[in-house]
Amino acid sequence: MKKYVVLILVCMFALPLLAQNKFVGANTCACHNLPKVGKQMDIWKKSKHAEAFESLKSPKAAEIAKAKNIAGSPSEAKECLQCHSTGFGSAHDASFKVEMGVQCEACHGAASAYKPIHNKPENKDKAVAAGLVVNGGEKMCVACHTPKMHPMKAFDFKKMFDEIKHPMPKG
Ligand code: HEC
Ligand code: HEC
Ligand code: HEC
Repeated sequence: MKKYVVLILVCMFALPLLAQNKFVGANTCACHNLPKVGKQMDIWKKSKHAEAFESLKSPKAAEIAKAKNIAGSPSEAKECLQCHSTGFGSAHDASFKVEMGVQCEACHGAASAYKPIHNKPENKDKAVAAGLVVNGGEKMCVACHTPKMHPMKAFDFKKMFDEIKHPMPKG
């Protein structure tokens, strides 16, 4: 009986929270620049993911779009933004900046519901229930790292993850 009550409570509170989850943008993740948590912001800013939107303005991008008969700028085309931006087609908060490319939430989930609580280790389960993805694994990467729109490097998870890893300091 108790189990059902818990289930009903979860449905009543967690599901509507998930339904209204919004992408808030990496510019709001500044705490992750502290050395004691591992400076994930700095690491990400130096990664190609941070440039993913800017790349859509390059001559090479224009060439790719032209070959696919995409009218207008690639930086406004859904065919490109699906992979070169974060949470394309979903709800975004006013704080969100598309220019920041493939941001934290592309891999860790839209953060509006979990952001206020996820900084306390004891809240981890609650944060996950509110949409935090701790480790989405290879299948998440391959959703974008697939030559659907243009050719690209073969995806080697171990090697590619090594290039973008941003662990918390141990201890
Ligand atoms: C939302 C789509 C998306 C997801 C999810 C994603 N990536 Fe990417 N990734 C990109 C795009 C787009 C680029 C190219 C950015 C650029 O150069 O403009 C890229 C570039 C990279 C690069 C640099 C490649 C190079 O040419 O030097 C690495 C490494 C990488 N991603 C690793 C990963 C790993 C590992 C994962 C999963 C943990 C992942 N990516 C998930 C879209 C994504
Ligand atoms: C299915 C996901 C996906 C789609 C859709 C997509 N891209 Fe990409 N794009 C990537 C990934 C991943 C990379 C990194 C390539 C690699 O690892 O070799 C990339 C790389 C690029 C690069 C090279 C960036 C650099 O560092 O020079 C350009 C330019 C580019 N894409 C333009 C476009 C354009 C224009 C469109 C729309 C017509 C588009 N892409 C659609 C995933 C995608
Ligand atoms: C391309 C996908 C991707 C992006 C972008 C990304 N992460 Fe991650 N992140 C991961 C994956 C996958 C893991 C899990 C690694 C593991 O458990 O080995 C992870 C782990 C973490 C961890 C936990 C590390 C640990 O040691 O427990 C933190 C904190 C984190 N990310 C924060 C961020 C922040 C903040 C940003 C943006 C500035 C960001 N991530 C951007 C994929 C990503």
